[in-house]
Amino acid sequence: MKTVLTKNNLSVVLRSPKESDAKEIIGFYNIVGGETTYLSFGAGEYKVSAQQQESAITSVNESDNNTMILATIDDKIIAIGTISSNQKKKGKHVGELGIVIKEEYCNLGLGKIMMDELIDWCKSNGITTRISLSVRKDNPRAIQLYKNCGFEEEGIQKNETYIDGEYFDIVLMGLIL
Ligand SMILES: CC(C)(COP(=O)(O)OP(=O)(O)OC[C@H]1O[C@@H](n2cnc3c(N)ncnc32)[C@H](O)[C@@H]1OP(=O)(O)O)[C@@H](O)C(=O)NCCC(=O)NCCS
Repeated sequence: MKTVLTKNNLSVVLRSPKESDAKEIIGFYNIVGGETTYLSFGAGEYKVSAQQQESAITSVNESDNNTMILATIDDKIIAIGTISSNQKKKGKHVGELGIVIKEEYCNLGLGKIMMDELIDWCKSNGITTRISLSVRKDNPRAIQLYKNCGFEEEGIQKNETYIDGEYFDIVLMGLIL
């Protein structure tokens, strides 16, 4: 557990998830899915049961190359950052990064703080040597944040995302640790 300050001096607690957070995590993802179109799912599309989410929390907490960081204010979740990896010999060194902050807490430097936490965690787990992520090409705030953290653009997936009759390109980014 760690307390950090945003640019406007909000005190935010960063911590690992507990099984009892399962319902709130599901609710959080379903709300932020409707706040932005930049996520891979929309409002109400995070269709995971409380039991599945609880099991996911147990396994993430037991894993050496997966993690989840919750950012909370007054113990309410305002952001979630994740590193997801598989256990195959050829790929377990790769962590796929995901991050989402509730819209009202964006642009306060919390993204940078959480990215640094996730990157530091990867550097110290003894397994991860590469972090990958994908981001919509028209998401300049996220791309700027990732570049600020040292990520490089590695490729474009054309028309990877479809929203209301329009296709969007995805930028693949990577950070070698
Ligand atoms: C993307 C996200 C994680 C960034 O976190 P954040 O706390 O808002 O970002 P920070 O304040 O730490 O940093 C944002 C950086 O982008 C810059 N920025 C903001 N808007 C920008 C824009 N329109 N164009 C270019 N840069 C921009 C900021 O100036 C800052 O850079 P700086 O520190 O060099 O000044 C957060 O905004 C979010 O969750 N957004 C909604 C979901 C999302 O897009 N998730 C990522 C999916 S890949």
